[in-house]
Amino acid sequence: MVTSVNRVAIVGVGHSKFGDRRDVTLPELGFEATKPAFEDAGLTPRDIDFVSVGISGVWYEDFLPAVVVSEYSGLAGKGLMRCEAACASGSAAVTSAYNMVRTGASKATVAIGIEKMIGVEPLTMMEVIGRAGYYLWEFHNFGMTFPGYYAMHATQHFHRFGTTDKQLAAVAVKSHKYGSMNSNAHFQKPITINDHLTSRVVAWPLKLYDCCPVSDGAAAVILASEDLARSLTDSPVWIDGIGISSDTANMSKRPDYIGLQASVTAAQQAYRMSNITPNQLDIANVHDCFTIAEIMAYEDLGFCEKGKGGPFVEDGQTEMGGKIPVNLDGGLKSKGHPLGATGVSMMVELTRQLRKQAGKRQAAVKNGLALAHNVGGTGHYCYVTVLRS
Ligand code: COA
Repeated sequence: MVTSVNRVAIVGVGHSKFGDRRDVTLPELGFEATKPAFEDAGLTPRDIDFVSVGISGVWYEDFLPAVVVSEYSGLAGKGLMRCEAACASGSAAVTSAYNMVRTGASKATVAIGIEKMIGVEPLTMMEVIGRAGYYLWEFHNFGMTFPGYYAMHATQHFHRFGTTDKQLAAVAVKSHKYGSMNSNAHFQKPITINDHLTSRVVAWPLKLYDCCPVSDGAAAVILASEDLARSLTDSPVWIDGIGISSDTANMSKRPDYIGLQASVTAAQQAYRMSNITPNQLDIANVHDCFTIAEIMAYEDLGFCEKGKGGPFVEDGQTEMGGKIPVNLDGGLKSKGHPLGATGVSMMVELTRQLRKQAGKRQAAVKNGLALAHNVGGTGHYCYVTVLRS
């Protein structure tokens, strides 16, 4: 019987190297994240009641990839759930693992986010991701791809608010700067505004350096009930607020393309649950699958007014030392975007930031509050999570 709800803490985090990981199998890649997560928590797989695996791909030889990933990490026999929410599958996995502890059904759970994308023929990958819109109307009739969808957002943002190519470039330069300080990032090379502006067009106005890459990677977080967490660590990081939303798959039913309503709704829910305003956040990780997505996220999450996201990044407000540092791990753009891993990777980064373990990428932590924003599709799913130290 559920008598009360429990607080849920992140007590262990682990992260694989992101990038081209054709050197390992899918289960081996998962183990690269779970092993350090267990070591960090001071727990073993025997202590875990439930496993959730965020994985989005449909291209694996194993039809049940969550099972082999879990088994290779020593977790066979535990409660197991595969979670799919496109690029937000990792956050869906964290939410499932959170709910098991929150309701008292489990004392300790693990959420694993994982994807292997490199090696799938690039046009097949482009097609599969493109089908994550509205297949019949948009993919089948118009051949929409993900760079194409976000290019529509960019052109409307340019038209309505005067957002510029240089402001998109500012996002990419920031991401690559912090990615160059992250040894787990897919790309670890800084770029200049000129590198961005002269890169090849993918879907106008978006160029190569506006796009996240296709990546392999895994991340894991171990969650525990309050009593277990307090026995394990003096510095638990609490999952303090969660907001979950979705939107129509059919873009023609949306009123405009200047933002994602799912982000606005999920953020409002998470702020309400945590009883905070965005001004109190010390740091955030937002879903920058394309540079315009990061600019829209600043606005949808309430970091700045609608339409002001371009100047906000250009003025350095989302750099370390700015009003709210964003994506100090390099974000999807530079750290990489293995679809199912991304949401869990955000939790790993923000937990390390709140524990002040982020080394030269460490943000100032005053209020002990961090936000993760993870979008699936173009707002088909959205998860916003507030962490508190
Ligand atoms: N940013 C920077 N460099 C990139 C890159 C990116 N996003 N993608 C590829 N590169 C680099 C590669 O490292 C490679 O460099 P090298 O020649 O020095 O080795 C070069 O560009 C060519 O790589 P390739 O993989 O052939 O590029 P591509 O043209 O097949 O793919 C994109 C480029 C942008 C089309 C592809 O990365 C893509 O589709 N990204 C979006 C993925 C997506 O939609 N995810 C879901 C979002 S919700």
